[in-house]
Amino acid sequence: KKRFRLLRWTWRAAYISAIAGAVYIGYGIWEMRHPDDQLAPDPNKKTLVVLGTGWGSVSLLKKLDTENYNVVVVSPRNYFLFTPLLPSCTVGTIEHRSIMEPIRNFLRHKKAAVKYYEAEATKIDYEKRIVYINDDSEIKGDVSATEVPFDMLVIGVGAENATFGIPGVREHGLFLKEVGDAQRIRNRIMDCCETATFKDQSPEEIQRLLHMVVVGGGPTGVEFAGELQDFFNSDLKKWLPEIKDTFKVTLVEALPNVLPMFSKQLIDYTEKTFKEETITIRTKTMVKKVTDKFIEAESVGPDGKKVLEKIPYGLLVWATGNALRPIVSDFIKQIPAQKDSRRGLAVNEYLVVKGCENVWAVGDCAVANYAPTAQVASQEGAWLARMFNQMAKTQEIETELAELSVKQEKAPTKEARDAVFADIKDLQKRLRRVKQIGPFEYTHQGSLAYIGSEKAVADIAWWSGNIASGGTLTYLFWRSAYISMCFSTRNRILVCVDWVKSKIFGRDVSRV
Ligand code: FAD
Ligand code: NAI
Repeated sequence: KKRFRLLRWTWRAAYISAIAGAVYIGYGIWEMRHPDDQLAPDPNKKTLVVLGTGWGSVSLLKKLDTENYNVVVVSPRNYFLFTPLLPSCTVGTIEHRSIMEPIRNFLRHKKAAVKYYEAEATKIDYEKRIVYINDDSEIKGDVSATEVPFDMLVIGVGAENATFGIPGVREHGLFLKEVGDAQRIRNRIMDCCETATFKDQSPEEIQRLLHMVVVGGGPTGVEFAGELQDFFNSDLKKWLPEIKDTFKVTLVEALPNVLPMFSKQLIDYTEKTFKEETITIRTKTMVKKVTDKFIEAESVGPDGKKVLEKIPYGLLVWATGNALRPIVSDFIKQIPAQKDSRRGLAVNEYLVVKGCENVWAVGDCAVANYAPTAQVASQEGAWLARMFNQMAKTQEIETELAELSVKQEKAPTKEARDAVFADIKDLQKRLRRVKQIGPFEYTHQGSLAYIGSEKAVADIAWWSGNIASGGTLTYLFWRSAYISMCFSTRNRILVCVDWVKSKIFGRDVSRV
């Protein structure tokens, strides 16, 4: 009887929690769909221009009290992209719109309105304090290029794909940075498979078309190779049985191992897992040239001599890291203190671009001695927002203090003067508290990467040490960590639905 009562109470608790959860999510959705009226932007306040809508800029905008500034955002991308799940979009495990959050929805929820221009910033004129912007979209109005003046500027334009000037990469390789890249890859995979099964195709051509080559053994290359092999194992093999003995994934890396930022144990685990999944890893192999049908790669032969070999491919995904965007390299040239900057804008511990006043940089375009990751960019953006909020508060208190000083001077009696003096003391105390902002310090929470066949690797920071783990449990942790990090409830629900959908029905093998 006791056990039965316990069971009944457990059911009730579960039932109530489910209802509470549904109400919570429902309210979140309702709130998202019904934004409040916003304060109009105040042009009398300082104009803060933010370039980019990526990890750095959006985490700044999320925490910024927009009523303190006249905020203007410029970016050619009118959405935020949750990049950690982008490799899953290349094979249709997740649909790309599930990891995009429209910037308009997000900005519409800020207390004071923010101006957004869908445009590319083409040049920053530091002397004139102007950003030149260009509408690069298909539809253009009478005005498609103009300028935006700023008092304060945050540069968060991220980075481009590095090609190291290797001939043929831009013409024939596909990158993996934006939504469009993932869509191109998804289509190319299917195109290669369908073309390989075209009537009378020669065996050599079939082998070439079904050879999927990934260059770069960093996390982007590894995660993509893992996703691609999953796609083959769970779907392609079933729907196109004729390619099952020919489809092959090769990962090419110039260094002696893949995932150099992970611990040795996890590198070995990844390499072992790839071997089991039949992904070929070619380490110590440097790609020197790319043509439309093969890559030329240099490696060291068993006799110690350099060997140059031609590797035919159908799909080539190029994932060899980051390079400067033109707007950043142009800005570097304008600032003498940046003359030695090669990898990005050198910033100080307050993220101020060295040699500049009122110009800050966050994320992949800034060099602050941290890896170019979303984790770093989002922490930098959030810290900068806190600093801007405090700067505004400081200014507010200082104005109040100046007013009180005048009031104190004009006070007719000693009692009145003493009362104002007490207020001044309180405000000065508050000012000291507000002004206490330390420099930016990055807290590394760990590195995570998906390696295919429902396995992931994780190097998690724990107290003063590190926990390294790999396998299926780590994969569940990877999934829950990324779900919790998704931008909005809407993104979280869409991603979960996609995971369930691809598990039940398999991934979609149609080409659009
Ligand atoms: P981005 O997020 O790239 O944003 C740059 C913004 O600037 C974009 O909105 C862009 O449109 C805009 N922009 C570009 N040019 C201009 C211009 N001229 N004017 C105005 N705006 C401009 N990091 C992790 O920590 N964990 C992960 O799991 C992870 N996975 C990744 C997976 C992939 C496939 C990739 C490519 C990266 C991954 N990263 C991950 C790295 C992470 O995405 C980047 O470090 C992060 O996006 C950097 O943020 P950012 O704000 O500097 O740049
Ligand atoms: P990366 O810079 O981490 O790795 C690029 C790799 O390409 C290097 O190992 C390099 O040796 C190799 N390479 C360069 N030129 C080559 C050539 N010609 N031939 C063969 N190999 C060559 O780049 P990636 O993976 O694009 O990552 C960029 C940033 O984004 C990194 O900071 C990374 O940490 C972050 N990121 C993090 C992820 C995660 O945490 N799960 C996922 C994806 C990216």
